[in-house]
Amino acid sequence: ATLKDLQSALSFLTTGAKALPEALSKPKVGIVCGSGLGGLVNVMREKVEFPYSDIPGFVNSTVAGHAGKLVFGLLGETNVPTVCMVGRFHYYEGFALTQTTYPIRLMSLLGVETLIVTNAAGGLNPAFQIGDVCIIEDHINLPGMTGNNPLIGPNMAEFGPRFPPMSDAYCPRLRRLVYEAAKKLTVPKFLHEGIYAFVSGPSYESKAECRFLKMVGADVVGMSTVPEVVVARHCGIKVVGLSLVTNRVVVHREIRSDPDAPAEERPVEEMIASHEEVLEAADARARDLQTLVNHLVDMI
Ligand code: HPA
Repeated sequence: ATLKDLQSALSFLTTGAKALPEALSKPKVGIVCGSGLGGLVNVMREKVEFPYSDIPGFVNSTVAGHAGKLVFGLLGETNVPTVCMVGRFHYYEGFALTQTTYPIRLMSLLGVETLIVTNAAGGLNPAFQIGDVCIIEDHINLPGMTGNNPLIGPNMAEFGPRFPPMSDAYCPRLRRLVYEAAKKLTVPKFLHEGIYAFVSGPSYESKAECRFLKMVGADVVGMSTVPEVVVARHCGIKVVGLSLVTNRVVVHREIRSDPDAPAEERPVEEMIASHEEVLEAADARARDLQTLVNHLVDMI
């Protein structure tokens, strides 16, 4: 993905045959909708949609439950011009991280100042219940620490510095605003703050890996978000991240591990993560999260 690709995507959106109207062409806020959370666009007004397949430089998402389109519109009571990614690109789909984060750079060229990233994540912290939301306080970029960071390669100095800090990645003011926005909801306490560990997937974590992630201080684990955050911070976009806890990961060790033992002698009711389970849980809480984000954009 070169600057030229990005510039042709920008002119496709702003000067093409189906160009955006003036009021939508300079979105202040960008939103990435995670698994099952695309319903947010239902409350946007004056929408203009672009399927990813139409936008120069975009790759095509391959995951069930992740339809791909870029939606521009007005959000919140104060009509905040917003651009929303419905469906994101994941590393496990086989894309390079520069491809999965291409839309973030496009958002930067469009003038986006604040990015709200959402995702479905597995809960490692035992206090987190299914359906709770974890405000991301910090991350552990496992692939990034071991050779796969989206900024590897020649630095695009038009966007930011060679060595951007990540110590201030998640804006404290925006995190406080999430609590403020949540006060307007009528649901019981469901907010936490915590550390998001990024893993490549697509296989879910083994039990030993889950114990490892807990030991290094992660509260939630997922297969997205961090590359987008790294690229957003590189180009100076403020970030707030919200993880919807869709499953609790299995961390306990089995005492009896004989696979030939009769079923009644094997450990009962192991919670095994599945994509269906993740989508189901996201569905149940999606509306609350959407309302939360809708209030949040008014406060930014
Ligand atoms: N692990 C990794 N990614 C996930 C999970 C999980 O348990 N749940 C939702 N996304």
